[in-house]
Amino acid sequence: MALPTRKESFELLWHHNVPQNIIRHSIAVSRLAADIGARLKAEGKKIDLNLLDRACILHDIGKLAAIQSGGSHGEVGYSILLKHGYREVAEVIRKHPLHCILDSKSRPKAWEEKILYYCDKRVREHRVVSLRERLADLKKRYPQYREGIRRAEPLVYRLEMELLGKK
Ligand SMILES: [Fe+2]
Repeated sequence: MALPTRKESFELLWHHNVPQNIIRHSIAVSRLAADIGARLKAEGKKIDLNLLDRACILHDIGKLAAIQSGGSHGEVGYSILLKHGYREVAEVIRKHPLHCILDSKSRPKAWEEKILYYCDKRVREHRVVSLRERLADLKKRYPQYREGIRRAEPLVYRLEMELLGKK
């Protein structure tokens, strides 16, 4: 598997003009993911912690390009990483946008995908917050997607249960 180092991952972010606030968000997501990933791995789940880390660092690499082109930033990020030859990271980040959980095809399935998806929904800017706070924040920022967010909500809570055993 071709996996960028952490240093190469940050160089890719700079190369694609990812703003500093998104980089800080991505680092915070990677920290939470490392904790959850290590705990689940210790319980015997098959998780590649390096793949998870790089996917967290790179998950929003397509954000700016997607705003410019109007596409989904998961898909744009997927194409960028494919182009750089990082297929496994590309697959993990493809399924992280909120709406992906609504469709059985795009729903996060591998542990790395589930953990990235979930941790991204627990980090607001670069702070770890509750799902409730983050989802409320998303509804406020993206009123046009409020209905989709509402439909995704119970599935995100179910994922939290699966990863943390939390109600
Ligand atoms: Fe994202």
